[in-house]
Amino acid sequence: MKQVRLGNTDTFVPAVAVGVMRLGDKPAAQAQAVVENALAHDVNFFDTADIYAQGRSSIKLGQALQDAGVERDKIFIQSKGGIILANGQVDGDGWQGPRYDFSKSHLIAAAEAELKRLQTDYLDVFLLHRPDTLMDPEQVAAAFRELKDAGKVKHFGVSNMNPWQVELVQAALDEQLVANQLQFGIMHTGMIDADLHVNMTDAAATNRDGGILAYSRVKHMTIQAWSPFQYGVFQGPFIDNPEFADVNAKLQDLADKYGVTKNTIAVAFITKHPANMQVVIGSMTVDRAAEMMAIDGFELTNQEWYDIYLAAGNLLP
Ligand SMILES: NC(=O)c1ccc[n+]([C@@H]2O[C@H](COP(=O)([O-])OP(=O)(O)OC[C@H]3O[C@@H](n4cnc5c(N)ncnc54)[C@H](OP(=O)(O)O)[C@@H]3O)[C@@H](O)[C@H]2O)c1
Repeated sequence: MKQVRLGNTDTFVPAVAVGVMRLGDKPAAQAQAVVENALAHDVNFFDTADIYAQGRSSIKLGQALQDAGVERDKIFIQSKGGIILANGQVDGDGWQGPRYDFSKSHLIAAAEAELKRLQTDYLDVFLLHRPDTLMDPEQVAAAFRELKDAGKVKHFGVSNMNPWQVELVQAALDEQLVANQLQFGIMHTGMIDADLHVNMTDAAATNRDGGILAYSRVKHMTIQAWSPFQYGVFQGPFIDNPEFADVNAKLQDLADKYGVTKNTIAVAFITKHPANMQVVIGSMTVDRAAEMMAIDGFELTNQEWYDIYLAAGNLLP
């Protein structure tokens, strides 16, 4: 499995990670199969969050990792905190939102609750899930320092933040943020559209993320692409969807050429980008996930990459 450097650290992680947002309500046997399938493909990086299925996803993941008998230092577990749902967590932490909460006490409690659900002593990475406009960066820094000093978290990152929001948090920290998790996939390429259409007057020129792609490369922050198979926000997968016939035809051509499937090519489109992104796949179907992990052994040419981009309905200025 292709490896990418995690932020500016000396740690290398697989270019494909398994996200468990959709695991919470699946049977235990399926959770077990998802974990074992990932490990069999050298995908040893698991992404969760305290809010996924109100905590049930992390509980399922933690149990499946226990049942797999995998040594803790052979895997990476990443979780996120900072969102409080309207209906709180399933295991009764008493929190009630909806709001974002980057207070020191909440961030520490959120990370500690995840350790319990995941049956582990530490998180490899803890992300701030979504920007809290009421945040005090000093509170974030104090939470991170306490979690780090207690050995409960190794690295920290953010999610859904633009460059100045990253800078705001970073300015208070004494260590570098390693990752920013952002929606990205063939049917969600805003970061690239804006980069290609700089200073043009068409809709693709709209800069919605403040230039996060180039910023992340300059700062050596790993972009983790969430929902890589969805169009819109959780509207459904674009693969085999007749609404996206052109891009499916192009993906099929390339799948035939390289002896893989459309699912593989859709992941390779992301890993081809020199930003060295990590793709957080969310499939809970073992065969499909295996196809998404089969990215080694071929590389799309630059022309093929642009052909996919254009077949997805984008234009080059
Ligand atoms: N930081 C954030 O704000 C944020 C937000 C959302 C998600 N995430 C992370 O990103 C991870 C992935 O998100 P996601 O689950 O939306 O990812 P996804 O991989 O884009 O979508 C997975 C879903 O689409 C279905 N699917 C995917 N490819 C398919 C295909 N070729 N044919 C039919 N169905 C297909 C899967 O069904 P099957 O299970 O049957 O394969 C599953 O229901 C999450 O688990 C989470 O870790 C982060």
